[in-house]
Amino acid sequence: MKIFLDTADINEIKDGLSMGLIDGVTTNPTLISRIKGKDFRTVVKEILDTIDGPVSIEAIADDYEGMVKQGRKISELGENAVVKIPVTTEGLKAIRTLSREKIKVNCTLVFNPIQALFAAKAGAFFVSPFVGRLDDISEDGMFLVEEIKSIFDNYSISTQILVASVRNPMHIVRAALIGADAITVPYNVLLKLPSHPKTNEGLRKFADDWKKVSPDGSFPL
Ligand code: G3P
Repeated sequence: MKIFLDTADINEIKDGLSMGLIDGVTTNPTLISRIKGKDFRTVVKEILDTIDGPVSIEAIADDYEGMVKQGRKISELGENAVVKIPVTTEGLKAIRTLSREKIKVNCTLVFNPIQALFAAKAGAFFVSPFVGRLDDISEDGMFLVEEIKSIFDNYSISTQILVASVRNPMHIVRAALIGADAITVPYNVLLKLPSHPKTNEGLRKFADDWKKVSPDGSFPL
């Protein structure tokens, strides 16, 4: 399963890359709005030039012509640019047009399996089910991922499932068990992933016992 970082913050991306964990990046207008002091083009160019993997950048128009125009401009920013388009009736037309031009499209704001199926039929490269936002309204976001996975497997659909709106490490475990192609993870969740209280407890015990070997805690080699 590929792991993308869900951020527009270049420092978070560089840190994730240094851990060898990050295969791509996803952004959205909310994440872009948190970056102060840099214009939109500078922010996205810096990300596209920092990572080789796919970087999803969202078109903000809500009509077909606007989404296609913005999508083409986004794709010109870098070979790894992926255009995020919402699955609406206008969005589906834009997904079809952009995909036919060999522009990779990440279909965003997917909340039911029909949206995923239709986006795939329109040519989507990724579909992004927003699992956390479904959990927020007392639905099971990961069940949607299971449904999409079954449908795509039934018809050998090659569109990749990119699990989005991830809020906790269990979303990641369940995505991997289901066999999602990719998951996009906020930086704060990424940092929680490798930590375990028993690991920390074990490290404290080793450090205490080491003092019996080396009273000042130094490593005598
Ligand atoms: O990738 C989509 C994601 O950024 C949405 O996350 O937490 O705002 O629902 P959230």
